[in-house]
Amino acid sequence: MSQPLRLGIAGLGTVGMGVLHILRQHGDMLKQRTGRDIVISAVSARSRNKDRGVSLAGYGWEDDPVALAQRDDVDIFVELMGGSEGPAKEATEAALRAGKQVVTANKALLAIHGQALAELAESKGSAIRYEAAVAGGIPVIKTLVEGLAGNEITRVMGVMNGSCNYILTRMEDAGKSYQDIFAEAEGLGYLEADPQLDVGGIDAAHKLAILSALSFGTRVDFDGIQLEGIEQITIEDIRAAADMGFKIKLLGVAQKTGRGLEQRMQPCLVPETSPLGQLDGGTNMVVLEGHAVGQIVLRGPGAGEGPTASAVMADICDLARGWTGPVFNQPADTLETPTPALSQRPAPYYLRMALVDKPGAMAKIAAVLGEAGVSINRMRQYEHSDVSAPVLIVTHKTNRSDLDRALAAMDGTGVMAGPVVALRIEEV
Ligand code: NAP
Ligand code: HSE
Repeated sequence: MSQPLRLGIAGLGTVGMGVLHILRQHGDMLKQRTGRDIVISAVSARSRNKDRGVSLAGYGWEDDPVALAQRDDVDIFVELMGGSEGPAKEATEAALRAGKQVVTANKALLAIHGQALAELAESKGSAIRYEAAVAGGIPVIKTLVEGLAGNEITRVMGVMNGSCNYILTRMEDAGKSYQDIFAEAEGLGYLEADPQLDVGGIDAAHKLAILSALSFGTRVDFDGIQLEGIEQITIEDIRAAADMGFKIKLLGVAQKTGRGLEQRMQPCLVPETSPLGQLDGGTNMVVLEGHAVGQIVLRGPGAGEGPTASAVMADICDLARGWTGPVFNQPADTLETPTPALSQRPAPYYLRMALVDKPGAMAKIAAVLGEAGVSINRMRQYEHSDVSAPVLIVTHKTNRSDLDRALAAMDGTGVMAGPVVALRIEEV
């Protein structure tokens, strides 16, 4: 029988305790599957005295995660603290310099420092595994790296932040404002400690940046993502979208074209009958497209103790079996530096605006759109009682640059009673 695989776990919060529970309750099963005992040598967290519901007496303790990462009795450093800087980065680097393997759920760390960490890991012959970092319990990284190894990946898309999807679907179900549902989600503990990571689209963009690197052979490029959060979405947008057969989702899309790497994370309209349109609550969905396979749709829990620990355990089991490989699907020194590109693919757009309620206002807007080459598909003016008239327009497919010209020209018409909300309607 092989030597036991010895873990050092830094972070005993939601995910760390989930991993600990699986190891304690399913040790025999894991041994049968990997051929090795998987044991915890030592752990680290901020507070040694916190009651975590289980005794930690059998494990070593380190106050400093860097010291944990360097221990002689640790083969795999399991980083479950979070954050792109500070202890998570320092301890991960220390583990790699000491020749350890690393398993992490930390998308922020990989989205910001992925290339440097991959180079460090590969220079030491170490692996970094991070299945839990993208879409929680969904095995999307394994699917890309293993199941789709024979494919040129043509497009990656997905709803990868459960909190935003919860807020958007709950607004519709409860008929309540963004502010009300944001407060509800925060009260339920669904949001990150810094909620801007969720609602600003940053957390989902971290995940998209990682998927892009794995899919397109490019260095992870978080700064190249066109990023927009969900804070501007109103209950009126959600109702109007529903009225026209759409749902609003915080959707990430990445593809490589002749002009460069397109990566965007922004609220979009998707058909309500599409798989993405039917995704409710905190569930995640990732759509992968490959030249040979066509389209694969993966759906499942994107967060929470069990699902995230499940993904961390998959990585630990792979390392127990001796399955390693380059961090981003090919050696780090062969990854291209991407050229960020804005999407030139024409798409229909949803426009919501408030017009000054006077004769000719609608005609002026229609004229401005027409002059920019943007054709109107559908148009509605809703009943109103105040001095501005709410108007919705769905365009035919148009280039974003033509639409931007029209939006700029609208400001000069003298009939706008507020800013325009413009959302892309995504073909999915
Ligand atoms: P969490 O519940 O906030 O737990 C964080 C843990 O890290 C706590 O045990 C904390 O110690 C410990 N910690 C923080 N700073 C530390 C330091 N300086 N030294 C030692 N320990 C420190 O976080 P989580 O939700 O488990 O998330 C962990 C990671 O998984 C993050 O990267 C997160 O993005 C990722 N992730 C989480 C989920 C999810 O559903 N929660 C899903 C996917 C990915 P104390 O307990 O003593 O405070
Ligand atoms: N805040 C994240 C989400 C946690 O809501 O999806 C999982 O990464």
